[in-house]
Amino acid sequence: MAGGEKNLWIIANWKSNKTISEALEWVSQVGPRLERKDNIKVIVCPEVVALEEVKKAVMTGGFPLIVGAQDLSPFDQGAYTGEEAAPTLKGIVQLSILGHSERKQNFGETDQMVSLKVKEAKDNGIVPLVCVQNEQTPVPDGCKLIAYEPPFSISTSGPDAQADTPEDAEKVARVFKEKYGEDLEVLYGGSVTAQNAKTFLSQENISGVLVGGASLDPEEFLKIVESSYV
Ligand code: PGA
Repeated sequence: MAGGEKNLWIIANWKSNKTISEALEWVSQVGPRLERKDNIKVIVCPEVVALEEVKKAVMTGGFPLIVGAQDLSPFDQGAYTGEEAAPTLKGIVQLSILGHSERKQNFGETDQMVSLKVKEAKDNGIVPLVCVQNEQTPVPDGCKLIAYEPPFSISTSGPDAQADTPEDAEKVARVFKEKYGEDLEVLYGGSVTAQNAKTFLSQENISGVLVGGASLDPEEFLKIVESSYV
């Protein structure tokens, strides 16, 4: 690739899956087999309850694995029952997924709330990764990392998988870069598997993948990570 290897983000979004012991088992299988590469960031986003244990296991093992959250509160610390505030999360996570379509569909999350979450993340040194569902989804100020995840493509892994085409994902990535600047990094998510990961990662304007179902199995996830090695 002209100008050297591009940066790639390979992100596991476990959603509401894995007990603490299952999470630790995954880390013990994946961690030791990850290669340390300057241009590749491998991130795992467990449920909140497992975050601290996963972080400890990663540190103890010295694995090149970053721990991320799946969401955070739009508010600072305070009287917000049930929410995880960014100042509480910041010692544990380096990144947070924000504005996932499942949060918009099931929990009434709005683009305005996503903007507040981006600000909270940034104020606390957490990288905001904003999910965009289509070309119209706004990218909040200060966000430089997004994942294009068309809702029709989410959680369809398996024989009837309906990932978007790499060509379409590339086209959408160009639209966002033209609108928000060339320094915006765009990932693709939605039924990414070990079979199709490389077809997305090799697109010029796609800087990684956000992987749900296929990230739960250590072997499948490792194959996806390997497809980012040139
Ligand atoms: P999926 O989920 O890989 O299971 O489709 C991706 C996501 O929702 O982030």
